[in-house]
Amino acid sequence: MPHTVVIFGASGDLTSRKLIPALYELFRKKRLPEGTRIVGFSRTPFEHDAWRAKLAESTAGFVGKAFDPERWSQFASCVFYHRGDIENPADFEGLRAFLDQLEVDSAAPTTRVFYLSTAPSFYESAIERLGAAGLAEESRGPVRLVIEKPFGTDLSTARNLNAFVHRVFREEQVYRIDHYLGKETVQNLLVLRFANAIFEPIWNRNYIDHVQITAAEEVAVGRRAAYYDSVGILRDMFQNHLLQLATLTAMEVPARAEADSIRDEKVKVLRAIRPLTREQVFSDTIRGQYRKYRDEPGVPPNSETATYGVVKLHVDNWRWQGVPFILRSGKAMSCRTTQIVIQFRQVPHMMFEGGPRLAFQSNRLVIQVQPAEGIQLHFYTKVPDQGMKMRMTDLSFTFRDRFQSTMPEAYQRLLLDVMQGDASLFARADEVELAWSIVDPIQAAWENPGWPPLALYEAGGWGPPSAVEWMCKQNREWFDLCPILE
Ligand code: BG6
Repeated sequence: MPHTVVIFGASGDLTSRKLIPALYELFRKKRLPEGTRIVGFSRTPFEHDAWRAKLAESTAGFVGKAFDPERWSQFASCVFYHRGDIENPADFEGLRAFLDQLEVDSAAPTTRVFYLSTAPSFYESAIERLGAAGLAEESRGPVRLVIEKPFGTDLSTARNLNAFVHRVFREEQVYRIDHYLGKETVQNLLVLRFANAIFEPIWNRNYIDHVQITAAEEVAVGRRAAYYDSVGILRDMFQNHLLQLATLTAMEVPARAEADSIRDEKVKVLRAIRPLTREQVFSDTIRGQYRKYRDEPGVPPNSETATYGVVKLHVDNWRWQGVPFILRSGKAMSCRTTQIVIQFRQVPHMMFEGGPRLAFQSNRLVIQVQPAEGIQLHFYTKVPDQGMKMRMTDLSFTFRDRFQSTMPEAYQRLLLDVMQGDASLFARADEVELAWSIVDPIQAAWENPGWPPLALYEAGGWGPPSAVEWMCKQNREWFDLCPILE
């Protein structure tokens, strides 16, 4: 079936950095459905060719060696531009006429995908006008709506946005993006857990001490500071990416590998997460800010916005009772690494004298989400010729060593799934709302100065020193290791 993908916010950064390169890559790999057309919609005036030329330049920069001018020109012949203003209903009538004209030759029904890659303040206008222009109707073929993050800024705005979306689109037509779900290593969590029998028996409170999920970034907020200051780390990273990683780690096996079975299981985890009381926000979270943050252009000199956060969560079900999920993220950290550490318990009785006795000195399964995508299992080995001296060693798997192909950008998989109508890797309405309901009480408490105190940290390290003390008090330790990249 032919597809038409309409991108609102076509002159924006996301379009040139991620969406067009991903669509081009799909085309180059012959995965883009036959007859796919891409239409950019934005206020900036462009002729089709001028937009194509601009995209050629940016795409060549982003895909590097994969850019083949001949393949690009074939791809570019399916790329169009339609000038329009999201606030102007007449421009949507114009868009409808343009699409009808574009699709006039296709005998088969066409799937239309409307991708909202605009600032969130335009989502409602775009949705309303799509509805008013009859563009949400499915008389000619399926119609799908893709919404970028952030989906709301708290529970109430997310609920309102969901209600607004549902006035025009059915839930099955809606694809809420969390680009972490498009990452190969995140999808591999499902394969690791549910295509291998050996992990399931130990994937629970009997064997696991805690789960530590880190998304550290080396970059500071830089040019995005003015936007970032109103958002902060909880809304930017926890509500979406970190909670997604936590639910995929904690969920039960779905009955089938299909969208609603998977999302039902994820939703059950989110429901089981114990909301933090005000006191627990004080004791079980850490908020930090890197020292130079207030000097970033656009940041108020007294800003209390957190650029680092730790949140300890409990999942109230049989599998996870008593096993904390410790989530952590920060900007301006030592290196870029996203990892899930399954920290196993100590042996019930350590018979070797001088052997490790602390929980954090025991087995670990380290799932490297990025950038050194892979998995390591840490375990003790006898050091040869040194009595019964032991050392932690590891079995290591990396995607790079094992597979020739490079890891595709998350947006390739996500865009293809939207076209194929598979919503497994997209957040459902209830999922997004539940995630906000976990983050909201923490964010509300953090708005009060000193609750908990804002801990300053040096850029280029692993966050505030108080985070180390906090872990130490629990007899636990951070797994702070920068991945080795060849
Ligand atoms: C985005 C956040 O959602 O994710 C950014 O808004 C963050 O602040 C980015 O840098 C991280 O994504 P990735 O794929 O680089 O880990």
